[in-house]
Amino acid sequence: MTKHFLTGLELDQTKVLNLLKLAKNIKNQPQEYNQALAGKSIVTLFEKPSLRTRLSFDIGIHRLGGHAVYLDQQNGAMGARESVKDFALNISTWADGLVARVNHHSTLETLAEFSSVPVVNSLCDLYHPCQALADFLTLFETYDDVSQIKIAYLGEGNNVTHSLMLLAATLGTDFVAVCPKGHSPDAQIVKQAEQIAAVNGASVLVSDRVEAAAGANVLYADTWVSMGNKTPIEQVKDTFMPYQINQQLVEACGAQTILHCQPAHREFEITSEVMDGPKSKIIQQAENRMHAQNALLVSLLNKDYV
Ligand code: CP
Ligand code: NVA
Repeated sequence: MTKHFLTGLELDQTKVLNLLKLAKNIKNQPQEYNQALAGKSIVTLFEKPSLRTRLSFDIGIHRLGGHAVYLDQQNGAMGARESVKDFALNISTWADGLVARVNHHSTLETLAEFSSVPVVNSLCDLYHPCQALADFLTLFETYDDVSQIKIAYLGEGNNVTHSLMLLAATLGTDFVAVCPKGHSPDAQIVKQAEQIAAVNGASVLVSDRVEAAAGANVLYADTWVSMGNKTPIEQVKDTFMPYQINQQLVEACGAQTILHCQPAHREFEITSEVMDGPKSKIIQQAENRMHAQNALLVSLLNKDYV
C-alpha cells in the first residue's frame, strides 16, 4: 500500500524518533545522502503562497540527487480544468512523489486516494505536519529530553497549532495553546492530542489566559491571520495583542527558546527584539524544514518507511 503523510499521525513515537535521527544524519553528513533520491522526480503542488516550503523542498530534493517539479495555480486551479482525482491519476504516472499545499484537507485525501505514489501534506487548513517535524528537530538540537519540557503556543489556534500539539503529544512534551476566546484550536484535534498525550505521560491544555504559559521552556508564535483569511491583521490586533510574544512575556515565563514557523508579522504576534534576540531559534527552525523533509522523503520513497 502506498504510504502517505497527510496528518502526521501516520508516524508513531518510534517512527518520529527514527525520522528525526535520520534528519540529523542528513544534516550532518549530507555527502552520504546526495544520491538518496537519484532518478526520482517529485511534484510540489501549491494552491497557496510559500517561501520556506517551496524552497526547502526544491533545494532539499536537489541535494538528495532528485528532481523537484513546481506546479502552481497559474494554469488554472486544481479541480477546475480537470478533477483532483485526475490530477492524482496523471501525476502519479510520471512522478515518484507528490507534495501538496492545499486549501482544504479533503483535497489531500482525494489526492492520496487516487495517487499511486506518496502524497505529503505541505500545509492545509487543518495541519502543517512538515513544520512540526522541523520544530521538533530544532527542539532535539536544543534539549536532551523533550519529554521534560513544556511548549506554550500563543495566538490563533490553527493548522500549525494542531500539528505542533499532536507531535508534542506523540513525543510526551507538555503543551499549552493560549488563544483568545473564539480562536481555540479544533476541539476534535485537541481531544485526539489529549488521548495521545495521556499514553505518553504528557498534558495538553487550551486556555485563553496568558498566565497558562508560565513555566514554558518554549514559546511559539504564528500569524494571527492565516492564508486564505482576508481579514486585515490590523483588524484583529486588539484581540490578539495580549498574546504577543515580547520580552516581558519571555521573562515572565522564564522561557529559553522562541520559535515561529514564519512568515512573521513583526511587532504583531512577535516583537523584533525577541525574534532577533539570543533565545530565538527561528532561522535554525526554518533551515530544519529542509532536513526534516528530506528525511521524510527518503523514508517515504524508499521501501523502509521509518
Ligand atoms: N512556514 C512555512 O510553511 O512557510 P511558507 O508559507 O513560506 O512556506
Ligand atoms: N497558519 C499559517 C501558517 C503559515 C506557514 C497559515 O496557514 O497561513
